[in-house]
Amino acid sequence: MLAHHFTLPDETHTDALGRALGQALHGLYTQVQAHGAVLTLSGDLGAGKTALVRALLRALGVTGPVKSPTFSLLEPYDLSSLNFYHFDFYRFGGGDEFATAGFRELFAPGTVCAVEWPERAGARMPTPDLSLTFKVMDQERVVQAMAHSPLGTAWLTQAIATMQHRTATGDG
Ligand SMILES: Nc1ncnc2c1ncn2[C@@H]1O[C@H](COP(=O)(O)OP(=O)(O)O)[C@@H](O)[C@H]1O
Ligand SMILES: [Mg+2]
Repeated sequence: MLAHHFTLPDETHTDALGRALGQALHGLYTQVQAHGAVLTLSGDLGAGKTALVRALLRALGVTGPVKSPTFSLLEPYDLSSLNFYHFDFYRFGGGDEFATAGFRELFAPGTVCAVEWPERAGARMPTPDLSLTFKVMDQERVVQAMAHSPLGTAWLTQAIATMQHRTATGDG
């Protein structure tokens, strides 16, 4: 499956990648309606996972506050034609909290799930369509993106094209 890495020298680039993924997802709504979509975001605290999801939600038309789900575990967003669930499992201690919290049922057709700290959800966590792994290098971030399904491949392909176009045109 498709893999690509993005170099993000500062937060404007994180914002651009989030928006590119949001725009791409918007073009895939029919498939999201049919299958649902899952995005995972791995990497250290402060790497930019929440910042990226915030930008993605902005591209999908969310104008209100986008809080980190660090304490709530889940922040839901009601988009016009689908549900968007932003999870953060940092505080999961292990065991099967993912299943007992009833979160598994939320991974469903018509739903987009963006998951920070997916490793802490355990074995019941569904395979993502697209995974992002953040590495902090001095100041900049490097994000390794991997598609794990046809939807994920279409999603990432479109986001890569948007980011390349942005770089080529110097559009910031
Ligand atoms: N590419 C980047 N380079 C440097 N700083 C960044 C970059 N992207 C985001 N940041 C900053 O790093 C912090 C990331 O915080 P946050 O998104 O909450 O991280 P996480 O959810 O991964 O713990 C924010 O202060 C953000 O402005
Ligand atoms: Mg976060």
